[in-house]
Amino acid sequence: MSEIRKVGVVGCGLMGSGITQVAAASGHEVVVLEADAAALEKGLGRIRGSLDKLVEKEKIPADVRDRALSAITSADSIDALADRDLVVEAIVEDLDVKKDLFAKLGAATKAEAILASNTSSFPIGEMAEASGRPERVVGLHFFNPVQLMKLVEVVKAPKTSDDVLAAARDFAARCGKTPITASDTPGFVVNRLLVPYLVEAIRMLERGEATKEDIDTGMMLGCGHPMGPLTLLDYVGLDTTLFIIEGWHRRFPDDPLFVPPRTLRDKVAAGELGRKTGRGFYAWEGDKKK
Ligand SMILES: NC(=O)c1ccc[n+]([C@@H]2O[C@H](COP(=O)([O-])OP(=O)(O)OC[C@H]3O[C@@H](n4cnc5c(N)ncnc54)[C@H](O)[C@@H]3O)[C@@H](O)[C@H]2O)c1
Repeated sequence: MSEIRKVGVVGCGLMGSGITQVAAASGHEVVVLEADAAALEKGLGRIRGSLDKLVEKEKIPADVRDRALSAITSADSIDALADRDLVVEAIVEDLDVKKDLFAKLGAATKAEAILASNTSSFPIGEMAEASGRPERVVGLHFFNPVQLMKLVEVVKAPKTSDDVLAAARDFAARCGKTPITASDTPGFVVNRLLVPYLVEAIRMLERGEATKEDIDTGMMLGCGHPMGPLTLLDYVGLDTTLFIIEGWHRRFPDDPLFVPPRTLRDKVAAGELGRKTGRGFYAWEGDKKK
């Protein structure tokens, strides 16, 4: 199995900064490539803030924070990724932009490098083909917030080699996560089950079968979920869920589970995106439901 020591992360937004942090804190040397200088500063600031908080709470000693910070360097050219064992892509969720990046990564990295995508909704196989060496491409789907969430879905695309899959699982485990292996199908394991559940909660509300409060209370107390589906939709962002379900509906128009509910479309069109805009299924004040 290939051993991963040198890591590259492309995109230093919400997810890329989290992946950079957990990779560096677990002893990897990380080069971060970000297209936007302000986003890079913000991402690096988020990493520093998060590591400082872990030291304050005595979750990690100060020298682990210092070592992690000194293991991270930033770059503005893809050439800086030439010697990486693994490159994780965490850029904007746009398939054409991602395929373009994978084509460039395929040319800029060494032949045995593993290329991974953190995409939530696109087929890994399409990026793999764009790279020119599909057997070295895998999905590494971290969850938000990366520092806290224990799961990584390791996605086996049609041509991913067993060696690459094993190395990617090992990398996730060394980052302190629990890897599960998923097929390259819409939503992998978690979102494939979660998103149809969320949209069915909207359909139940549309059919007038229960109030939003009762749907949420039902799933919290009946299933032990920390929050109900309509609260979770507000939390995730209604635009994010609509984006995912619309993409699946385009790919699989005959699957009734993937039909976007009208209320979801209407709320997004009205700018009611959930917590981040102060209104979705509920009214929000910052992180709190009013
Ligand atoms: N946000 C989530 O909850 C979540 C969870 C799991 C997976 N994901 C996936 O992770 C990826 C990133 O999501 P995010 O929420 O971190 O987005 P984000 O907008 O916070 O960050 C994306 C970053 O990529 C940068 N970027 C865009 N194009 C680039 C390029 N060509 N080269 C270098 N940098 C580039 C942007 O400047 C931005 O800073 C997406 O594929 C998303 O589906 C997101």
